[in-house]
Amino acid sequence: MGFCKLNMFFLLMFMIYFPVPVSGFSLQSCTVSINTAVCVKKRLTAIPKDVPPTVTGFDLSVNRLTRIQQSDFPPLPLLLFMDLNRNKISEIDPGAFRTLTSLRRLNLNNNKVIKLGERVFDGLNNLTVLRINYNQIKVLSSTSFQSLTKLEVLDISHNKLQKSADLELILHHMPQLQELVLRGNSLKAFNSWEITNRSLALHILDLTLNPLKDFKVTSDIFQNLTRLKLGNPKGNEQTIWDVKNHTFLSRVSNLDISGLIMTLDDMKSLLEAVTSSLTSLRMNSMKLNHSQLINMSCSLPTMFILQFQFNKLKNKIDSYFFKSCVHLTELDLANNYIEHIPENAFMTLKDLKVLILSNNKLSSVPNATRTLQNLIELDLSSNNIGSVTCMDFSNNVKLKELALKNNSIQTLSDCVFKNLLQLQVLRLQSNQLIQLNKAFEKNLPNLKRLYLNGNKLKKISAKEFAGLRSLQNLTLHQNQIKDLVEDSFVGLTNLTDINLQTNCLTMKALKTGAFNALINLRSLDLTSNHIKFEPLSHPPFSNLSRLERLFFMGQHLNGNQHLSINSLQGLNNLLYFNARKNHLTNLDNDTFTYTPKLEYLDIGSNDLKTLSSQLFAPIKNLKNLYIHRTALHSLDFFIEANLTKLEFLEGRHNQYSVITEKVIKSLPSLLFVDFTYISFSCDCDNVWFINWTRANKQTQVNDAYNYSCNYPDNFKGKKLLDFDITSCLPDKGFIHFASTTGVILFFLVISFTYHFMRSHLYYAYHLIWAWLFDSRYKNKQASHRYDAFISYNSNDEPWVIEQLLPRLEGEQGWRLCLHHRDFEPGRSIIDNITDAIYSSRKTICVISQRYLRSEWCSREVQTASFRLFDEQEDVLILIFLEDIPTYMLSPYHRMRKLLKKQTYLNWSRAADQPDVFWENLRKALQTGNKPDGEKLLLTVIETQ
Ligand SMILES: *[C@@H]1O[C@H](CO)[C@@H](O)[C@H](O)[C@H]1NC(C)=O
Ligand SMILES: *[C@@H]1O[C@H](CO)[C@@H](O)[C@H](O)[C@H]1NC(C)=O
Ligand SMILES: *[C@@H]1O[C@H](CO)[C@@H](O)[C@H](O)[C@H]1NC(C)=O
Ligand SMILES: *[C@@H]1O[C@H](CO)[C@@H](O)[C@H](O)[C@H]1NC(C)=O
Ligand SMILES: *[C@@H]1O[C@H](CO)[C@@H](O)[C@H](O)[C@H]1NC(C)=O
Repeated sequence: MGFCKLNMFFLLMFMIYFPVPVSGFSLQSCTVSINTAVCVKKRLTAIPKDVPPTVTGFDLSVNRLTRIQQSDFPPLPLLLFMDLNRNKISEIDPGAFRTLTSLRRLNLNNNKVIKLGERVFDGLNNLTVLRINYNQIKVLSSTSFQSLTKLEVLDISHNKLQKSADLELILHHMPQLQELVLRGNSLKAFNSWEITNRSLALHILDLTLNPLKDFKVTSDIFQNLTRLKLGNPKGNEQTIWDVKNHTFLSRVSNLDISGLIMTLDDMKSLLEAVTSSLTSLRMNSMKLNHSQLINMSCSLPTMFILQFQFNKLKNKIDSYFFKSCVHLTELDLANNYIEHIPENAFMTLKDLKVLILSNNKLSSVPNATRTLQNLIELDLSSNNIGSVTCMDFSNNVKLKELALKNNSIQTLSDCVFKNLLQLQVLRLQSNQLIQLNKAFEKNLPNLKRLYLNGNKLKKISAKEFAGLRSLQNLTLHQNQIKDLVEDSFVGLTNLTDINLQTNCLTMKALKTGAFNALINLRSLDLTSNHIKFEPLSHPPFSNLSRLERLFFMGQHLNGNQHLSINSLQGLNNLLYFNARKNHLTNLDNDTFTYTPKLEYLDIGSNDLKTLSSQLFAPIKNLKNLYIHRTALHSLDFFIEANLTKLEFLEGRHNQYSVITEKVIKSLPSLLFVDFTYISFSCDCDNVWFINWTRANKQTQVNDAYNYSCNYPDNFKGKKLLDFDITSCLPDKGFIHFASTTGVILFFLVISFTYHFMRSHLYYAYHLIWAWLFDSRYKNKQASHRYDAFISYNSNDEPWVIEQLLPRLEGEQGWRLCLHHRDFEPGRSIIDNITDAIYSSRKTICVISQRYLRSEWCSREVQTASFRLFDEQEDVLILIFLEDIPTYMLSPYHRMRKLLKKQTYLNWSRAADQPDVFWENLRKALQTGNKPDGEKLLLTVIETQ
């Protein structure tokens, strides 16, 4: 059978190129991305073995692994990072990680480990970071950590460790440990003498959220400790502070005592121990007297940074609250329900540079901030501020960053920001702004980033932003902007990024030429508006020659979007274009003429049934293409598209069912391809693709092992890669034999070449013969002996004799040629058939399933059909005796090709109107052989 030969040819070619079985690039459950095997959320219960030995990262997070055994990991000599976060691991065998000799970082967070047994981490001599938080570890063994001599970071927080002696088992083996996180365990005491008496390298020690009753340090073990975290915001245990010598913590610069409960005396000696080194103090959720704490801590001469959150201050701040805090440069008072701050509360904070008042209950900008003339950053986010006045920031002339987001400000005025000549960042998002009232028309010459998203702006008036000559980023998304005018963005000559998604913009707003002022724009986001393109003499983006990224997803339109030919005119530096979800039904071949540098194109989730190769002619640099969910029936457009740089193709959710060699070969740079949710044809047509997926070393076929079959029926639901490709071969034994030894391979090549050439010679012979015959008869076409040659299977003979013959020969008077009646005895059958075809005006094929199985694939009919199909004359009439679903035709390649182009007569559907059927057949026999005439007629037939 001809079609099978072709596939066999590919298969054998493949076997010649890759004689030994090779493991490909597509993995069963994982993808490889930047040298990391990513197997996240795959419901894995065992560790995949097909990970290439070259990976440096292995991400197995969010799976169902329960146990790690010695033989589980293949040798991964280059692996540096492994993530086992969020599994159900409760058991780790001794030496389970032994094959991972280079591993540097291991994450075992969120598992169910109760006990770390003997030698669990053996072999991990190079590990520097181990995270094993949120487990239930209660028990450690003396040899659990013995290999981890190079460990620098151990995070074993949120477990059930109880004894400070356990810490000895940890620290004993880790001379280089710098960071030890023990948060959220059940440690009741920390006694240095139980742990060690040598000096530790530790820089960071986190003991928060332990019910510590004792903190005892009896020898100088913390020489290098700079960050210490104690305290238990959730508990109510009192901790006894017992540090024998005040010099023992003399390097600590960052101290967190959130929630720590102590006697005032202990607290004093704690702060004394760090008195010469402390720079940053965190005291959140304190249960002691707040103003006493502030007084004590602010007296430390080196302390500059104070965080004092979650202390329910409400109205407790009085004029003297911060009076001793003269050195502070940063004060964080977020999350305190603060409603009011007295006018002179910050008077003493002469050096304050950063003040954070977010997440409080302030209803206006507190007058107290006016005294802070050195302030550089002020955060008033998430309060109840309803308006801002011209006095509010008039003194804060050094301000560089001002955050007012998440308030309920409705309007601004032209003087609010008047004095903020240094301001670089202004956050006004998520307010109720309806108008900007010239707030930006003349002010803020140094502003670089302005956030106005999530407000209620309806229009941008002329020159609204004219003063912002340094502005680079402007966010205006999630407003209700409908109207723009020509001068809306005048002055924004340095703007590089503008976000306008989720507004009410239409083409009318764009036509004003508003964007023409944005000559430096690099990124424009117009997603989720109502913009419908139309051909324009001044296209909306014609001045944006620097634009690199255009986001244009999901326009809300009634009807279809159509990118007109000059929609993208002017964007000659565009690299990225995203037009996903736009109800695009087709793309003109000229769409990308103006964007020759395009590298990233997303036209997914549109209604594009076809794409043409010419569309891609102007964009030869394309690297990433997204065409998922586009209802494409074929990828053949790639063959001529010449996309030699394409690396990434997202093609999931489409209608094609066969991926051909030609398509893949036309994309020589392809590194990643995704055909998930394609209804594959699991037949010989995909043999090449199956082999390529398994074996190619360049392109990763995403999730290939889960691709499933939709055709033929008996394969439905099975996996594409499980398809038995040997069924596409005539002789399995022969192939097996052929692939085993080189000598046989040689014979295979010889015999195959002969085999292949012979069939070609055979076809060639008949082709030449047919051509000769054809040209001989061309001049005397009128002399056809018959009107039609009937090709049928002998099983269908009764129908031919009883129905067809009487109608066509008897009633309609045609001359028919039937093999049982009209063939010359003694001549070869092939000669007879060829002769019959050439001496008949038409050939009628009576098609049934049996016909397809025998006649259609017989060498004779194939030979004869060669001429019939590949020459332009339409001399073939197809009659279907029974309904044959299209997918069953899939192996009969030529037949399918033919049916795609033309319609045909269907007897099984003609049962109630046989006369119409015969009349249509008569018309079909009457027409000449010109293709156009035939098609016209066949259209008539289809309407029966
Ligand atoms: C891992 O550590 C061993 C010594 O324990 C050393 O010989 C080897 O070179 C290290 N490997 C890497 C990749 O650092
Ligand atoms: C403490 O740090 C110093 C300098 O970084 C280093 O030389 C010393 O070895 C460290 N101490 C310990 C016990 O590691
Ligand atoms: C504290 O330790 C230092 C040296 O680390 C020592 O000189 C000093 O005498 C000690 N003070 C007390 C009270 O033990
Ligand atoms: C803040 O100062 C203004 C005058 O600049 C005054 O009118 C207002 O009442 C003050 N607000 C509070 C809460 O003290
Ligand atoms: C400015 O916009 C660009 C592009 O959107 C973004 O990458 C960059 O982070 C933005 N800058 C800031 C500071 O937000």
